[in-house]
Amino acid sequence: MKIAVLYGGVSAEREVSLSSGKQIMNALESKGHEVIGVDFHPDRLEEIIGLNADIVFIGLHGKYGEDGKLQSLLDMLKIPYVGSGVLASALAMDKARSKQFFKIAGIRTANELVLEKKLYSEDQLDVPFGYPLVVKPNHEGSTIGLTIAQNKNEMLSGITSALLHDHTVMVEEFISGKEVTVAVMGEKGKVSALPVVEIVPKNAYYDYESKYAEGGSVHYVPARLDDRTTALLQKQAVLAHEVLGCEVYSRVDFIVPNDGSAPVILEVNTLPGMTPTSLFPDAAKEVGLSYPDMIEKLIQLSLQ
Ligand code: DAL
Ligand code: MG
Repeated sequence: MKIAVLYGGVSAEREVSLSSGKQIMNALESKGHEVIGVDFHPDRLEEIIGLNADIVFIGLHGKYGEDGKLQSLLDMLKIPYVGSGVLASALAMDKARSKQFFKIAGIRTANELVLEKKLYSEDQLDVPFGYPLVVKPNHEGSTIGLTIAQNKNEMLSGITSALLHDHTVMVEEFISGKEVTVAVMGEKGKVSALPVVEIVPKNAYYDYESKYAEGGSVHYVPARLDDRTTALLQKQAVLAHEVLGCEVYSRVDFIVPNDGSAPVILEVNTLPGMTPTSLFPDAAKEVGLSYPDMIEKLIQLSLQ
């Protein structure tokens, strides 16, 4: 098959995408496909049309790649692509809105306060929960622009820096617990969850360095959890994927609280990282899918 791989892009997660794209291209080449890599910028769309590829593998993360806008253009051009469509991509990229859907599905979320840049006033800020708390841009990935604030000053400077990345900022209750993630994949209406991955970062939190530096974290697959919690996480990951209308694959992040209470969903990633330190490939490996097999499977699922 002739496959175009879009990587790089213009979002804050460009470096991550350069790495994901390289791995995806190597995998597709090892499977004997004709692979054309494109460092994607919106102005290169005509070039992509001219490729006449059988399918596009979107190896992008974040803005103009993961947020539904590119998916919309490809839909209009009738070019098939791997993964979720417009609505699910846009919803998943919006952390605050997707939480409304998770709540409807009965999945526990952390309490949050959403701040809009245009309406934000430091003097009128009234946060209904205590410290520590998390401040994050509403549409970012890879913990870019994220602050864990221990007090008011840290929260205020966290909001200022998050507002540099996004017009919407979410202040969220900090849940102390295990960071886990669940990869979901499969045919529409028949997706299933892969084994739960537990993340133990070297740094205090699963920050950018812990995510992408070699040896930045240890992944336990399957996660060191009791069977009941594992089954619940897998069920809720599939529910979260479905309530947003995701397709083919996604990765759903949770915290399992230290106090033994129900897991708390953080977000759904519709184009999860595919770098050498990423989580989705580790989950696939556990069910016997090598990295190239996993990529091939995502292509097959997307063409069905
Ligand atoms: N946003 C990054 C790429 C991830 O979730 O894996
Ligand atoms: Mg993410």
